[in-house]
Amino acid sequence: LQNFSFRKDSDEILPDPDSVHVAVSKEDWHDEVLSIVVVGASGDLAKKKTYPSLLKLYEENLLPKELTIYGYARSSKTHEGLRQHLYPHLIKTGTSEHIVNSFLERCFYYSGKTYGDESAYTSMIGDLAKFESTSESTVANRLFYLAVPPNVFGESGMVIKKIGMATTGWTRLVIEKPFGHDLDSCNELLKTLSDDFDEECLYRIDHYLGKEVVQNMILFRFSNPIWEPIWNRKSIESVTITFKENIDTNGRGGYFDKFGIIRDILQNHLLQVLTLFAMEPPENDDADSIRDAKVEVLKNMEIISLDDCLLGQYDGYSDDSTIENKDTNCPTYAALRCWIHTPRWEGVPFILQAGKALDEKLCEVRATFKPAKTLASVQSVSKKIEPSELVLRLQPNPAIELHNNTKIPGLSTSPMKSKMTMSYEDIPDLSNPDAYTRLLLSVMRGDQGSFVRDDELRRSWEIFTPLLHAIDDTGVRPLPYKPTSKGPEERVKWMEKMSKATS
Ligand code: NDP
Ligand code: BG6
Repeated sequence: LQNFSFRKDSDEILPDPDSVHVAVSKEDWHDEVLSIVVVGASGDLAKKKTYPSLLKLYEENLLPKELTIYGYARSSKTHEGLRQHLYPHLIKTGTSEHIVNSFLERCFYYSGKTYGDESAYTSMIGDLAKFESTSESTVANRLFYLAVPPNVFGESGMVIKKIGMATTGWTRLVIEKPFGHDLDSCNELLKTLSDDFDEECLYRIDHYLGKEVVQNMILFRFSNPIWEPIWNRKSIESVTITFKENIDTNGRGGYFDKFGIIRDILQNHLLQVLTLFAMEPPENDDADSIRDAKVEVLKNMEIISLDDCLLGQYDGYSDDSTIENKDTNCPTYAALRCWIHTPRWEGVPFILQAGKALDEKLCEVRATFKPAKTLASVQSVSKKIEPSELVLRLQPNPAIELHNNTKIPGLSTSPMKSKMTMSYEDIPDLSNPDAYTRLLLSVMRGDQGSFVRDDELRRSWEIFTPLLHAIDDTGVRPLPYKPTSKGPEERVKWMEKMSKATS
């Protein structure tokens, strides 16, 4: 492909530096007290994502001046022990040592016997309340980040409700996936917390909603009038959303084997991306209007069946010592075809595919356009004309590309494929924070638009549960593929067949 970057030659589309670099302006909650409790502070997510994201916000002066971060878990540790445990992960972010140290001075650690230990919580929340009482501000907000497995959500929620609720400000809970295993377990999990907390307090993280290209989707689609007339079945032949990782389960085989690639990636991350791509214009730009529009897509999506699915497992998957069932049929690759029965999308296949241990790391949305009716019918060029495509690449090198046919420059009149690119990497000094950093800021701002609502979650499990149960119940064998390959060989024919629009 020739790379024609219109950015480089045209000043007009260079972003206004102010709009790219401006930090978030001061908001009311910056003058209020903020206490953050990281439940499960001893764990993997806390050290890799939660604390580093909080550090980033701290570094950018996006957190209130009056801030304290309390870690809670069962492991015994001192405040200093937690700081030493976190230090290497924080310094790795590139933040300067003095900022890391200043951040760590605000971090404390408390341990209890269980995640519902009332006396441990009483002691921690007592100290937290003392800190709040030293403030001049009359409003004190509390954010609880549940970085623990879902089996302890219930007891954590109960003790927070009993002992931890803010009295003068908001209380918000951030919850991590997996939000269940199927529809029934999702309903149980939803009930566990909804008994104690209103939906407005609950922030279910799907970190793909915090990625730059995903966050851009609504503005890109609805603020550029060129897209709306072609963003539909009349112009689009198929939409393929791809997730590829070039690492295997990486020591998480024990966890992964209980879930598989469909629960790990497709039912949540890729489905979320699909809903934003496919939704109708939301009535408004508030969180509920956006989520209403996403739920509408899901309601109109057909339940996925095993017939619409290709499964794979990479060779050597069950050699991982943490996988107990050596004869496991857990898919590490899956491709699915989905249908959305709306006037906009009737007959357009949406293909979702994801795999571990593949040839590259990649995540993109690719809309393939129908052939042009004019030149494409001219015999001499038709064979050489490729379908136009719009590619929204989430990672690596986030970009928006439009793949087109153009004339080979010079004396030839034949077509060649070229691409127009908006690459985020070309934007000088662009700050592109981690998805968790953006999402945590949204929590503090009370913006739930990038979090998964209960009805959205329920419907997404309704769509996937029959397929997941069919895989578990029938014991269907996934097709083998070699690590570092593109996936099972059968996928080429499958894609060809499945990505044809029906009318
Ligand atoms: P960990 O296994 O590291 O668990 C976090 C902490 O919870 C542990 O340090 C441990 O603390 C406690 N814990 C672990 N297992 C149990 C158990 N069975 N019962 C009670 N307490 C337990 O998990 P992660 O930090 O990796 O993940 C936390 C949550 O976030 C999970 O739901 C996970 O699926 C999700 N997640 C994680 C990601 C990651 O990159 N790690 C990515 C996306 C989601 P202690 O023993 O000290 O109490
Ligand atoms: C997590 C999955 O939700 O997303 C992991 O559980 C996967 O298996 C990860 O590796 C991918 O996230 P990212 O941001 O690296 O694409």
